[in-house]
Amino acid sequence: MTKDLNSALLDKPEVTHPILNISGLNVYYGESHILRNVDLNVFSGEMVCLIGRNGVGKTTLLKTIIGLLSARSGEVNLMTESILRRSPDRRAKLGIGYVPQGREIIPKLTVKENLLLGLETGRTKGRETEMMEQAFELFPVLKSMLWRLGGNLSGGQQQQLAIARALMGRPQLLLLDEPTEGIQPSIVLEIEASIQRIVKTTGISVLLVEQHLHFVRQANRYYAMQKGTIVASGETKSLSNDIIQQFLAV
Ligand SMILES: Nc1ncnc2c1ncn2[C@@H]1O[C@H](COP(=O)(O)OP(=O)(O)OP(=O)(O)O)[C@@H](O)[C@H]1O
Ligand SMILES: [Mg+2]
Repeated sequence: MTKDLNSALLDKPEVTHPILNISGLNVYYGESHILRNVDLNVFSGEMVCLIGRNGVGKTTLLKTIIGLLSARSGEVNLMTESILRRSPDRRAKLGIGYVPQGREIIPKLTVKENLLLGLETGRTKGRETEMMEQAFELFPVLKSMLWRLGGNLSGGQQQQLAIARALMGRPQLLLLDEPTEGIQPSIVLEIEASIQRIVKTTGISVLLVEQHLHFVRQANRYYAMQKGTIVASGETKSLSNDIIQQFLAV
């Protein structure tokens, strides 16, 4: 290997068509105008980080991309296909994986059953064993806990399970909402490393909401949100202390 992991990740992606293209997006909760004219792109093979303080609309954006919230106006395209009028199930089938804030694994199902739920995208038909093996390779701890109930796992293990579940459906684009939130530091590093590995080895593009600066810096590019509007964006290597202080809850 000629490049180390970090330099490979910081390089610009070689393919430059957007896998996700959002333009002029406006989203409301009732009469509250939450997202305001949001434009955002994620290119193939890229890891993009969305930063912003509490309550600015980061989760609202991810929920709108996967289809749990509907937009009042604007466009969301996956590759060249407009997806705003598609159901969340249909978007998952088209290749969007979603790991929600708070993980949302099913506590009364076993680890294995939780993982199998990820197959419902239908994108990995007949490849259950292969997908399981990939999940174990990425998160070895899950293999030893296959028969445990999801609810009995630690927070970090549940997060790993939630990411693995999304990968079982082989997305093209993975949405991750604060995957390191409330997780002990040693596991944070493990989760960071596994997400880097996903980007590097599978070609899956990632849109990440994150507060840990260390992790934000591992993304190729960032978008900073304030009051539902994108107010800054660029390469993470050019993230200034000023921007960090303004937009990260550090
Ligand atoms: N179900 C809801 N009904 C009404 N307003 C909501 C609802 N969920 C969120 N909001 C409001 O929408 C705004 C954006 O919320 P959102 O959860 O998207 O923020 P966030 O950037 O993800 O915050 P955090 O960093 O705390 O996760 C906030 O002002 C919030 O109070
Ligand atoms: Mg949120």
